[in-house]
Amino acid sequence: KLEKIWLIVGVSCLVLFLTTIGVSAFYLGNKPPSCLTTVDPDKVDQQKPFDKPGLHKVEGKDWDYELVYVAQAFSYNPAQVKVPLGAKVKVIATTKDVIHGFEVAGTNINMMLEPGYVSEYTTTFNKAGEYLVVCNEYCGSGHHLMFSKIEVV
Ligand code: CUA
Repeated sequence: KLEKIWLIVGVSCLVLFLTTIGVSAFYLGNKPPSCLTTVDPDKVDQQKPFDKPGLHKVEGKDWDYELVYVAQAFSYNPAQVKVPLGAKVKVIATTKDVIHGFEVAGTNINMMLEPGYVSEYTTTFNKAGEYLVVCNEYCGSGHHLMFSKIEVV
């Protein structure tokens, strides 16, 4: 008898949670906050800013540089980049194929790159050195070989 009551309580909770998520996602259109901009994953190379991966100086914005990345199994473009010490940089990244990670080791930059979405993070590199960008989402047989370097000078 008691088990039956708990089973009903459990199932009711599950239904309530799923309904809440469903309404939030499909009816209210909620999405993860990092995924506000979209890009056509099949034409990434032809779309701004991904037609020119790498570091670009910008004027009239709250940041000094834009650092554009295109991820693809199993590499990042650019594979290596030099960033001036103390520069405020907006990292803009996407992926051409599957979900990849974008973690800059030793910093608090840690993004998920999803096909069709643009991930962004603005940061200031205040410490000189070499930083390793690594993929922290399993993306296939070459996942552990997927990395890029940021040199802060
Ligand atoms: Cu890309 Cu793991």
